[in-house]
Amino acid sequence: MFIVNTVKALQDCLASHRSSGKKIGLVPTMGNLHHGHLQLVKTAQQHADVIVVTLFVNPTQFGANEDLDSYPRTFQDDCDKLEALNTDILFAPSIDEIYPRGGDDATHVHVPNITNVLCGASRPGHFDGVTTIVSKLFNMTRADVAVFGEKDYQQLAVIRRMVDDLNIPIIIIGEPIVREADGLAMSSRNGYLSKEQRQLAPKLHAILSNIHQAISKGDYDFETLEGAAKVQLSELGFKPDYLHIYHRDNLRPAKKADKDLVIVAAAFLGTTRLIDNLHVHCV
Ligand code: PAF
Repeated sequence: MFIVNTVKALQDCLASHRSSGKKIGLVPTMGNLHHGHLQLVKTAQQHADVIVVTLFVNPTQFGANEDLDSYPRTFQDDCDKLEALNTDILFAPSIDEIYPRGGDDATHVHVPNITNVLCGASRPGHFDGVTTIVSKLFNMTRADVAVFGEKDYQQLAVIRRMVDDLNIPIIIIGEPIVREADGLAMSSRNGYLSKEQRQLAPKLHAILSNIHQAISKGDYDFETLEGAAKVQLSELGFKPDYLHIYHRDNLRPAKKADKDLVIVAAAFLGTTRLIDNLHVHCV
């Protein structure tokens, strides 16, 4: 695996692959890789010849009181895991390499409306940071395909919208959530949980599964389902941020006639914010 830290080295590395007609696959990450990330790499390998994984803890997508400083950084461990998968290139730039004029002064990419709800409402500016770094990575690599996890469901929807609106020539692949044996969605932030919180955390998935079951049995009283689930979460010791049943594509409140829904939730356990989602297809 080639490890490169500059845009120039990355582009030099990719030039020969591109000129020999190889397809480039991109997997953007912030490191601290778990099985979910490794699954993204495996999927990218099925769709492209040369895989670039990027490892950059992007400061512009963190709010002032968020966990930028404490975000887990495990570079050597990440390299070992990527080597074991035969990843071709790891791009691990510095902040200055990405934002030579500073993050605040850099041109930003903003996707309207869909970024105002859910995580966008709780984390103002977060998605501008995501779309800005992701579009920069698309431009730096000129990748043919990029793979993102469905755990960050809204992020994936926002990136798809950006690609569509800006006619970016790239195929976006969404990878289903990878879960622990007890149902907890894998996340780098799970490492923040205490032993007790870790035992409680899978309940978030269990509660979403109960809603899934209720809808599958014909209960379309979405508001009541949402309200009851939030009460349940609170009683268990979570602090719910949001829990909604939305239309899967436009992230607007679901209507009874909608067929493809997504149940999306974010809830705090202590200071750790967990997110999860489940798709429901109504027949
Ligand atoms: O999902 C993430 O890890 C990040 O939001 C991403 C896509 C790598 C952009 O920094």
